[in-house]
Amino acid sequence: MKKYLVIGNPIDHSLSPRLHNYWLEKNNINGTYEKKKINEEEVKDIISEVRNNKISGLNVTIPYKKIVIPYLDELSLEAKESQSVNTISKKNDKIIGHNTDISGFELAIRSINFDTKNKKIFILGAGGVVSSIIIALKRLNVSKIILSNRTLAKAENIRDSFPNIQIVKWGEVPDFDMIINATSLGLKGFGELEFDNLKVGPNKFFYDIIYNPTKTKFLKNADLNGNRTENGKMMFIYQAHQAFTLWNKKIPKIDKEVIKLLD
Ligand code: ATR
Repeated sequence: MKKYLVIGNPIDHSLSPRLHNYWLEKNNINGTYEKKKINEEEVKDIISEVRNNKISGLNVTIPYKKIVIPYLDELSLEAKESQSVNTISKKNDKIIGHNTDISGFELAIRSINFDTKNKKIFILGAGGVVSSIIIALKRLNVSKIILSNRTLAKAENIRDSFPNIQIVKWGEVPDFDMIINATSLGLKGFGELEFDNLKVGPNKFFYDIIYNPTKTKFLKNADLNGNRTENGKMMFIYQAHQAFTLWNKKIPKIDKEVIKLLD
């Protein structure tokens, strides 16, 4: 029987087991998918379980998307470019790190028909997922990316890899068309992102990477102030869809039932 895991900390919020177990069953694959909260010292041991075939594949979430990299043998092109890994597999005795967040985000934005061309995008946060979002936004032909993070140095690190992005101080609000919450604020146990909606006009697009809870305070307030909002559910589904396909060589269906599964 195949065994899959998503590792992170916190991990309670993760709906990956619900989605992957549903697809495993639908595709008649004898396997289970579980979530496991781990601390940093355990990362190495878990990855060695992929090496000795006790685990068939891993997903990686907050805060380990970068931390896993030294323990892997190879990175896919996208994982290399973003220096971020959310999916781990074994191929020809090599442990490979993949990044399905980039296309997950790109497909999610394309699927909701938001025209990103020539738009100004304001990203809050500088954690492991942000480089993936930046790469996807470039593919979507946005005109400007502005970044803000509580810890300025982390935003500056990201700019080292993407020199065209602009940085503003935490709390400052530049002119934008779309704003993305890529911080952990809004997840259970992290507190809420306090964003002053009065500083921006209505008719902006507010996007939250978080999908559980389905509506963070950040999105609720944006709704109340006449903005378009979207949570991270479709990004989550698309990144999982590609991880599943990589591991099982079967393309699972994304249908109404799958989307409902995560409500
Ligand atoms: P991951 O690597 O999976 O994205 P992470 O690196 O822990 O996770 O990133 C979490 C993000 O949420 C960071 O941008 C973090 O800001 P710092 O770099 O300043 O730590 C942000 N974040 C977490 N708690 C926050 C808080 N209370 N206020 C503001 N930002 C916060």
